Amino acid sequence: MTNSSLMPRRNFIRNVAVAGAAISALPLFNVRAEGAGRKFKVGLVGCGGRGSAAMENHIDAAKVLGHEAEVFSVADFFADRANAAAKKYNIPAERVFVGPTAYRDVMAQPIDIVLLATPPAFRPAHFEAAIKAGKHAFIEKPVGVDPVGARSVIATGEIAKQKGLSVVAGTQRRHQQIYLRNQFAVANGAIGKITGGTISWCGGKLWFKNREPGEGDASYMVHNWTSFSAMSGDHIVEQHLHNLDVANWFLGRTPVSAMGFGGRARRQTGDQFDFFSVDLNYGEDVHIHSMCRQISGTYGGVNEFFTGTEGNTFGGGKMNSTKLASLNVPEFKTHENPYVEEHIALLDSIVKGQPINAAKTVAESTLTAIMGRIACYTGQLVRWSDLTTKTDSPWYNLALSPSPADFENGKVVAPPENVVPIPGEA
Ligand SMILES: NC(=O)c1ccc[n+]([C@@H]2O[C@H](COP(=O)([O-])OP(=O)(O)OC[C@H]3O[C@@H](n4cnc5c(N)ncnc54)[C@H](O)[C@@H]3O)[C@@H](O)[C@H]2O)c1
Repeated sequence: MTNSSLMPRRNFIRNVAVAGAAISALPLFNVRAEGAGRKFKVGLVGCGGRGSAAMENHIDAAKVLGHEAEVFSVADFFADRANAAAKKYNIPAERVFVGPTAYRDVMAQPIDIVLLATPPAFRPAHFEAAIKAGKHAFIEKPVGVDPVGARSVIATGEIAKQKGLSVVAGTQRRHQQIYLRNQFAVANGAIGKITGGTISWCGGKLWFKNREPGEGDASYMVHNWTSFSAMSGDHIVEQHLHNLDVANWFLGRTPVSAMGFGGRARRQTGDQFDFFSVDLNYGEDVHIHSMCRQISGTYGGVNEFFTGTEGNTFGGGKMNSTKLASLNVPEFKTHENPYVEEHIALLDSIVKGQPINAAKTVAESTLTAIMGRIACYTGQLVRWSDLTTKTDSPWYNLALSPSPADFENGKVVAPPENVVPIPGEA
């Protein structure tokens, strides 16, 4: 169990990678350089913390494979962010774009690959633009904040398949050696049939930036996107998604329904809950308890744990299984840093002409989190079909506001501060 409650988010991310390295007994580089090195032109949309790190991960991945990545064009909502990236990578001003429609200018550049790392609300529109423009894409998780957006990512992913484009998602556990080994073992019966489990992301609060004098709603919401549900999907979507993704992956299916509760105890800003507790019904009498909390000073834990008819296991930790030794689980020689490994997978697939496509799985994990959030906000039982097939469901067409189009059209009105959904009334 990782106690992250007092750890800043960036350090936590770095430490997870280091912990992964310790577990996996270095060195693990799976050098797959083949033939002459290629030079990839890369674009970045969203030059914040993760976007900047993802670009470095991408450059490292290219080197591992014997290729080169040139950061060709960048876009950000804010000029200072875009300009900082441009300075770092020596990008001429004509390929640096600013504002809510800047992503379109990046897509118009002669780039091979685009990395999308804005707040989640924008991902469906940016992903669609990327695939329509014929770019391979790295899409940070989550890939939407509402059912309409997440379904559109599935549809865009299908277009990517038709076009032979690769799509890799920022669900790095799927590229981490210990998770790959455990998932393979579980899928091959190491713990028998999964009968239940618990997953959690409990930690401290994230950042908040006070409104500057005269700052408009759009700028304020972009600065504080982790405080607004319409931007982040709430933290059950934005952060806990990683654990939900592991649950779907290990169980090999999505949940049938969700019921839960949550609330707000410490925030005065934005409109998110502080905590969620959700019973995910995966059918076949299997339930997974999902919990997440963002309250500093509380006990922290980020993990997944599954019990089976013949053992139990953490997603990325110890497995109790009497069968494991006989299963011939492959070593899964990954890079020590799963954040680099996901870009190795992306580049490797492009070079080999064997496209990979994670759009559907990450969109389904996003939908799983959205289902949990709606269940907690409303106090109702929410079914998978409410978000995916039942077009007359009250939640099927849910699209949060302000929308990405509102940002592009300059029509952003921030939701009232400190007003949250009331279960039973929402
Ligand atoms: N895989 C992981 O472990 C991991 C870790 C951290 C963050 N993330 C994800 O990465 C994404 C970004 O998170 P972050 O921590 O970097 O946030 P951030 O606020 O540091 O960066 C986001 C950047 O996007 C820019 N932006 C916002 N709207 C934009 C738009 N419409 N067009 C262009 N640029 C826009 C912002 O100005 C900012 O520079 C989120 O989806 C988050 O969930 C993933």
